[in-house]
Amino acid sequence: MTEVVSIGIHILDVLGRDVSEIPPGQGISLIDEIRITAAGTSAGTSVDLAKLGCNVTAVGAIGNDEMGSILIGILNRYGVNTKYLARKDGVQTSATILPIRPNGERPALHVMGSNAEFSFADVPHEVFAKADFVHIGGFYLMPKFDGPDTLKSLKLAKVSGAVTTMDILGVKQDNMAEKILPCMPYLDYFMPNLEEAGMITGLVDPDQMCKYFLDAGAKNVVLKMGERGSLILSASGERIRIPAFKVKVVDTTGCGDAWSAGFITGLSLNMSIQQAAQLGSACGSLVASGLGSDAGIIDLKSTLAFIKTTSTLPLGD
Ligand SMILES: Nc1ncnc2c1ncn2[C@@H]1O[C@H](COP(=O)(O)OP(=O)(O)OP(=O)(O)O)[C@@H](O)[C@H]1O
Ligand SMILES: [Mg+2]
Repeated sequence: MTEVVSIGIHILDVLGRDVSEIPPGQGISLIDEIRITAAGTSAGTSVDLAKLGCNVTAVGAIGNDEMGSILIGILNRYGVNTKYLARKDGVQTSATILPIRPNGERPALHVMGSNAEFSFADVPHEVFAKADFVHIGGFYLMPKFDGPDTLKSLKLAKVSGAVTTMDILGVKQDNMAEKILPCMPYLDYFMPNLEEAGMITGLVDPDQMCKYFLDAGAKNVVLKMGERGSLILSASGERIRIPAFKVKVVDTTGCGDAWSAGFITGLSLNMSIQQAAQLGSACGSLVASGLGSDAGIIDLKSTLAFIKTTSTLPLGD
């Protein structure tokens, strides 16, 4: 079984739909559905990876509170190994409240909490030994870990021979390029979304954005572009465009995290980059079809069936 170490942000998401407005005063609105999920660019991807059949070890920081215990319970339910998650005293587990609009948009109310306390000191070195893939999720939302600590973790991953992937959470801040570019030579796949890549590079053209990161040393760059699908450029010169799948959109929370999970799973099954990206795209689109960052994904078999039976959206290029 493929061993994936997923390092980074762990968030408890509380989602409700449909929410068009907060009731005035002390009013109450009856809505259709409320869910809690293990979410964030690391934990959300971990759940999806586990559903797709990978063995996942979670590395990150959660609080010593009820929400931390719930987060562990959810991860364990899907078989994610949580024994290395650091529990931090005096800080709450990172959490987000997401009132989902009828059109699937997702305004977010977020407490930084324990992710802000996560650092290289919380990364157990023994996890790298058996890792086939090391995924880092949530750069820019872990102030202690973003930068030199991330680099140290990537170096350990490369020394142990793992394939490295990284997704980010583009919270606008100073020196975004300066912080992340030193990681590029240690990344097999750098996987931001279009908006995030634009924030870092100051560029508008997706191909130019990819080239910017390739020039800094990344082996492959994936740009996730919502309903426009994804673009992958490789240092070898290969260029791949993958469409999104047509679904009835309920909530787009975690689409990118699911894309990463499908892609890693595909690579682990020795698929070509093109096929793995198609699996990533299917996972992203499935997640858009339900409430929460793991909605719609059941297992690998049903996801492969979804690819065969679902039409794709226009690339929009
Ligand atoms: N509205 C949509 N309809 C169909 N598929 C979608 C839609 N939005 C996203 N996807 C699928 O999910 C993939 C990743 O989504 P997106 O580009 O929004 O990532 P992201 O911005 O990183 O998301 P996240 O919020 O998880 O960080 C897309 O490439 C596409 O395959
Ligand atoms: Mg994302």
